[in-house]
Amino acid sequence: MKKIIAITRGDGCGPEVVNEGIKILRIVSEFTDFDFKFMDAPAGGEVWKRYGTNLPEQSFETIKRSDALLFGALGLPDLQPGVAESAILKIRQGLDLYVNLRPIKLYETLRERCPLKDEFIGDGIDITIVRENTEGLYKNIGKLGEDSAENLMYYTRKGCERIIKYAFGLAKRKGHNKITSVDKANILKPSQLWRKIFHEISKNYSEIETEDIYIDAFCQWLIRAPFKFQTVVTENMFGDIISDEAAFLIGSLGMASSGNIHPGKVSMYEPIHGSAPDIAGKGIANPIGTILSVKLMMQESFNSLEIGDEIDKAVEDALHEGRTVDITNKRLKTLSTTEMGDLIASKLKNRLKV
Ligand code: IPM
Ligand code: MN
Repeated sequence: MKKIIAITRGDGCGPEVVNEGIKILRIVSEFTDFDFKFMDAPAGGEVWKRYGTNLPEQSFETIKRSDALLFGALGLPDLQPGVAESAILKIRQGLDLYVNLRPIKLYETLRERCPLKDEFIGDGIDITIVRENTEGLYKNIGKLGEDSAENLMYYTRKGCERIIKYAFGLAKRKGHNKITSVDKANILKPSQLWRKIFHEISKNYSEIETEDIYIDAFCQWLIRAPFKFQTVVTENMFGDIISDEAAFLIGSLGMASSGNIHPGKVSMYEPIHGSAPDIAGKGIANPIGTILSVKLMMQESFNSLEIGDEIDKAVEDALHEGRTVDITNKRLKTLSTTEMGDLIASKLKNRLKV
């Protein structure tokens, strides 16, 4: 199966982690029926400095013609906030990637790295956050004046329906028996529309229990009893915020992966951490967020649940032997970005070659 994968390395530690993602895809290419071809699609701050645009036309064309996009991170400390990052939004809007899938799973071996006390971790943390990714405040309707500024939180029925349906479908696929909708329906009109549609759609899934939580309360419950949650669906900005909070529960922001998805169309896979200028170029960034984004690519774009599972297990195998500095442990070797990638690649090779 030939697949073209567009590659956007981006800024800061983006290139370092993306190279480790490519390493994993090469192993998949070598040991399975997949045959990957990589095409560069530069974007971000460095590109902006050189060409005056953060997403050159040619990069976007390459992305549109690919089967999936592996994406690093954008942003440079010497640029105004947003100058580089807005390329991400152009891709999300341009490809209509309405699902932002953000799995939050604490590996048992990283339990000691979770900032919560054992009693709050309970049976473990395994939450799938489904964030709406094209509407709400990110629709970019607004204006910035001298004395006032505004943004419109805009939602359509179509926008709510498609993401909520996706979340129910995913919950069913994963065998979850509960889905939590996070909103602010006591205040916000878009949340009132959202909640109404959530309950309409829930009628088609009588086997899945539903729960509504306000965003402020959810932020508390996420650290108080994270084991309560399975699939969580929410609007764009709330999803942005809770996913960073949740990402730290699994030991490090560097562990968290994501997929920006339009089912059946070109989708984009990226770690949740940003360009991390403070550690860029030092070879210490954790590549696991990117490698687990490759797992999501295999599962969501290429319909290969098994290969995705093998990548997941290869990560877990590797974590028993060595780790990057953000999740290090005295008993284990501390590894550089490339060493971590090599170790996971060798574990994956062992799994796929049998
Ligand atoms: C994310 C990021 C982006 C967002 C930024 C960089 C535009 O924080 O993917 O969560 O706000 O969605
Ligand atoms: Mn974010």
